Amino acid sequence: GIIGYTGTGGGVLDVLMTGLSGLEYRGYDSAGVAVANASLSVHKRQGEVSALEDALPDGDLDGLAGIGHTRWSTHGPPSDANAHPHTDCEDQVAVVHNGIIENYQELRGDLEASGHDFASETDTEVIPHLIESALSEGADREEAFREAVHQLEGSYAVAAVFDGNETVYAARNESPLVLGLGEDGHYLASDVPAFIEFTDQVVYLEDGQFARVNPSGIVVTDAQGAVVETAVETIEWDPEDAGKSGYDHYMLKEIHEQPTAIRKCLRERVNELEGSVGVEELSELECDGPVQFVACGTSYHAALYGARLLRERGIRAQCFLASEYDVGMVPVSSDTLVVGVTQSGETADTMSALRAANRSGATTLALTNVVGSSAARECDHVMYIRAGPEIGVAATKTFASQQVALAMLSSVLSEESSMEFVERLRDLPDQIQQVLDGSQARGVAEAYEDSDAYFFIGRGYNAPVALEGALKMKEITYKHAEGFAAGELKHGPLALVTEKTPVFAMLTGSDISKTLGNVKEVEARSAPVVAVTDSPDTVSRYVDHVLEVPSAGSRFTPILANIQLQLVSYWVANRMGRSIDKPRNLAKSVTVE
Ligand code: G6P
Repeated sequence: GIIGYTGTGGGVLDVLMTGLSGLEYRGYDSAGVAVANASLSVHKRQGEVSALEDALPDGDLDGLAGIGHTRWSTHGPPSDANAHPHTDCEDQVAVVHNGIIENYQELRGDLEASGHDFASETDTEVIPHLIESALSEGADREEAFREAVHQLEGSYAVAAVFDGNETVYAARNESPLVLGLGEDGHYLASDVPAFIEFTDQVVYLEDGQFARVNPSGIVVTDAQGAVVETAVETIEWDPEDAGKSGYDHYMLKEIHEQPTAIRKCLRERVNELEGSVGVEELSELECDGPVQFVACGTSYHAALYGARLLRERGIRAQCFLASEYDVGMVPVSSDTLVVGVTQSGETADTMSALRAANRSGATTLALTNVVGSSAARECDHVMYIRAGPEIGVAATKTFASQQVALAMLSSVLSEESSMEFVERLRDLPDQIQQVLDGSQARGVAEAYEDSDAYFFIGRGYNAPVALEGALKMKEITYKHAEGFAAGELKHGPLALVTEKTPVFAMLTGSDISKTLGNVKEVEARSAPVVAVTDSPDTVSRYVDHVLEVPSAGSRFTPILANIQLQLVSYWVANRMGRSIDKPRNLAKSVTVE
């Protein structure tokens, strides 16, 4: 993540450190800052932002302007040297960068041949050296920055500060960058939470644009240097939302925010009097052809769920892992609607699938949480899931919001709705609250925290929930967990089932009897069974534990079942003392393919 600041009131370092904390969820294997005075002060450390904080010199480190960065490694392992900012040989310029510079080896070779010494293994470090080389040929700072950026191939959001100068220079291509307009100064960041505490007035930079940020104002220019008119937008997120509000972890807070998130998602989109669904953003969307979903991780599980909702309404819908999506093979034509499900709107795999779909003439729709994200801006249509900021790396409330948004999408695309459908949606927030208030998940977690592995099974709408339950467990406990369509268990995974592998069975809706058959198969192998069910009377005599959920019909009860699984994973991870909000090796938004 990137933060930059320049202002008249001082406090540069404080702004940078606040920004880095707000950004830490984007990547966190190292962090660094550069503050510009007559000379540059650069401090960087492997580890979390707190490690950088400990490494900062005592006393005053204020300046004219500054940049900061949290890193999630792509080139070169996490280390102090590979942490950003990077500088040139003379320490005239410091640079931070998100993305990947594809031609860095070539550029580095040329620079080394002309005498530049490199201090890191990163692709980023070519940028300050390119700037240095342009400066030495007589370019001024801005020209040098532009010349350097023009030589880069790949994806980047870049920001730079120079010694003795109060300007922050920035550029973007396929990696997000947003400018913030404050009273005493101006900000730039890869994501709004970095500066939301200071200002809600923002300008989104477009691909190919450059920005010059001074204490007195911002100037945005295009690739040729012509000044571009920009629109200032007001962000409606409350900075309070970004705190933990008394919960031990963001994840637990976000699990408990699900009733509110769903209410926001539904607001002004469902009409209880008419039993109809209408999504204003989609009023121009026309779709008579097939629908293809592309997504990764948790969003892929939501997409599997959504594709089934569409198929149930007679729409031809398929679901693809974004990284495996191949427009040539699928195939895609002008009547295809390709829906990117991505909470961040920045996942590189999903963006690349959406861009390919776009080039093939399909209509694209982004289903995302982040206003102004790449997916939102590049797709023909966008529907926001309105979950609010999600900081925990493991997605929770965004998943539930995606499921509900997809339910509304299924109604919009099929032009079908009913009073029952709308009432079921309307009741979901209260039913989620009921699950949260009465959950026995903590006890179940305690009973099974020492297990060798965890299995999750469900069929129909519960099959994606089983996959999601297992993914959550893996992500935050680091224990082996697998999810299966219930019928598949006997075709292989059953070999792994023992008395040390509890099986979580989703027993909701109309498929209970078949899944109960699968439950009996695992019980015959001595595995303990936890049922997540809306029919405790029917199933409790067959299982060891029951996690009860209210009944919300066959489509929506799985949304409630998933809340129980989120809580079980959370409590297992909590008892194991895991780094729940920032699991090892993972990042909230993965902007490389
Ligand atoms: C990363 C995160 C996952 C997330 C996936 C897709 O891998 O760690 O939690 O599900 O990206 O993210 P998106 O922003 O596209 O929904």
